[in-house]
Amino acid sequence: MEMTTTTRRQFLKTVGGVTLGVVAVSGASTLLACAPKKVEAQELPWPYQKLDPVATAERAYTAYYNGGCMYGAFEGIVGELRDKVGAPYDQFPAAMMKYGGAGVAGWGTLCGALNGAAAATYLLHDSKTGNPIINEVFGWYGAEQLPNYKPASPKFANISSTAANSQLCHASVSEWCTRSGFKATSPERAERCAWLTASVAKYAVELLNQQADSSFKLVHTVPASVKECLSCHSGSGSVGNVHTSNQSTCTSCHDVAKHPIPLRK
Ligand code: HEC
Ligand code: HEC
Repeated sequence: MEMTTTTRRQFLKTVGGVTLGVVAVSGASTLLACAPKKVEAQELPWPYQKLDPVATAERAYTAYYNGGCMYGAFEGIVGELRDKVGAPYDQFPAAMMKYGGAGVAGWGTLCGALNGAAAATYLLHDSKTGNPIINEVFGWYGAEQLPNYKPASPKFANISSTAANSQLCHASVSEWCTRSGFKATSPERAERCAWLTASVAKYAVELLNQQADSSFKLVHTVPASVKECLSCHSGSGSVGNVHTSNQSTCTSCHDVAKHPIPLRK
């Protein structure tokens, strides 16, 4: 393994399996300090064992109230793996995923439930081949009426479902608030996001289980209306320099009626 700048600067030497830090002081005297034994980070992919989607959803729901949407989805999946597989999952600081709450620290960007599921499932994939489950979960999230999982002991009995048409926290929450009539700051909205976190973690695990059975298939592909836009506005298209590819829709942000050249309906 490559040594980091810090370890190189400290002239780390391994002597008989014990790592010693040798720090040069004023070029003359040297100081021997005991450094912790070097632990190799486990390469991806990490091992997977099929999980119970409902147990995952329940765990995600509970975790939502302990650390928000990203932490909830991540801990739902990785917490189950920690219990079932142990190492290396017991080495991972899941609490770091709290950064992703409400679209990253409240910025309303990527939905934290999606971010958490993407991070958790990425641990289970070879970083060279990528993670097809992200595409399916993101496409599904944009298209389906969600949440579609009701926890065993909910705080509210009835939470309505909406299709977000977007992977953005801001768009997803606002659409639900408009349709349900609840305020974004209401406990009902928090509960909706908790159910949504559970729904996302559950679906991600269903897909991981399918993958373990070699039956995983991408179902929610990019809609035809978006593919049409991308035929000109993606990498190889005539006006491709806009850095976009997969989307649930383009027209929630761009008005086709104002398009500089006429488009087919
Ligand atoms: C047949 C090719 C083609 C298709 C299909 C197409 N566009 Fe365009 N689009 C263009 C061209 C050409 C321009 C003008 C580029 C320029 O002036 O630099 C443009 C410009 C734009 C702009 C900039 C608008 C502006 O006022 O300058 C946006 C936004 C856009 N397109 C969105 C879309 C969306 C959304 C779709 C799908 C509903 C779409 N386009 C489909 C060719 C296309
Ligand atoms: C979440 C909102 C959002 C979505 C969804 C979205 N865009 Fe954009 N797009 C923007 C913003 C914001 C800009 C930069 C500001 C602007 O020019 O309107 C932009 C810029 C563009 C531009 C360049 C505009 C210019 O003036 O040159 C094009 C072309 C474009 N988008 C096409 C697309 C296409 C095609 C899709 C779907 C695949 C898409 N966008 C999806 C928000 C969005």
